[in-house]
Amino acid sequence: MSTLPVALTAPRDLVTGSEFSSAQIRELFHLAASVKARPERYRSALAGRFLALIFEKPSLRTRVTFEVGMASLGGAAVFLDHQGSRLGMRESVPDVARNLERWVHGIVARTFSQSTIEELAAHAAIPVINALSDRFHPCQALADFFTLEEHFRNLKDLTLAYVGDGNNVCHSLLLTAARLGAHLRIATPKGYEPDAAVVAEARRAARDSRAKIELLHDPAEAVAGAQAVYTDVWASMGQEAEAATREKIFAPYQVNEALFALAAPDAVFLHCLPAHRGSEVTAGVIDSPRSLVYQQAENRLHVQKAILLALLS
Ligand code: CP
Ligand code: NVA
Repeated sequence: MSTLPVALTAPRDLVTGSEFSSAQIRELFHLAASVKARPERYRSALAGRFLALIFEKPSLRTRVTFEVGMASLGGAAVFLDHQGSRLGMRESVPDVARNLERWVHGIVARTFSQSTIEELAAHAAIPVINALSDRFHPCQALADFFTLEEHFRNLKDLTLAYVGDGNNVCHSLLLTAARLGAHLRIATPKGYEPDAAVVAEARRAARDSRAKIELLHDPAEAVAGAQAVYTDVWASMGQEAEAATREKIFAPYQVNEALFALAAPDAVFLHCLPAHRGSEVTAGVIDSPRSLVYQQAENRLHVQKAILLALLS
């Protein structure tokens, strides 16, 4: 019988991020903190368990943290490189799911389309974890709020300003902030706002948590007095053809020293990485002592280990 503090009431999958209630996120953070403080306690927690990693897009952080995370819990991961062909091209997504469930205990998938991950989850009898899609990046947002809580201790009084593209990372920050009761101010250019359905869902969740969600277009207004400033690339993976156009449209949204100076005096800078210094952020901001980007990256490991423990044990 396990004596590990893994008894979470977790959902089966992490496909959108909405599966976890605020109480379940709190439990997950508690477990992640324990995993981070005493990793040796969990060394064989997932012994004999296997995880398939399906990646249609490149990755540094997500791949390494899931592979190292699984190994450090006593299990093993199998990497399936789908960068040359999208999932479903060689055989149907339901058939991939029905095969994998016979060999492994969970699937982590990074796909172009959110619908591919949802199709995997619909046809697999094992947990499916979203490792980034066009629509969501739930593991990232969970690690980000875990990092903010480590730094500030309390998320309820925290104002996070997100400046840039209303993309997958922005969507997951919205859904997570809404559950945790944080104040999220988002500034995007017109036409690049987060999806209205995601905003509506976040606003529904925010009613219970008293989170505050503001959609703006002025980056200075979003950053003013904020404790944390977050940005992401202007062209996400799959949008390379739009990169030059986006560079022009997003130029006023660069997080530079002047914009960052409008935040609270003790404000921190966040970025999911990879970053483009000189585009969405200047080197002076991302490489400053107030940047938490490598702490965020480290916490991907601890938070995802907690996710694996919650879903696979
Ligand atoms: N932040 C993040 O998911 O990084 P990778 O694309 O390197 O996995
Ligand atoms: N929005 C970025 C995040 C990378 C981790 C992308 O989708 O490429």
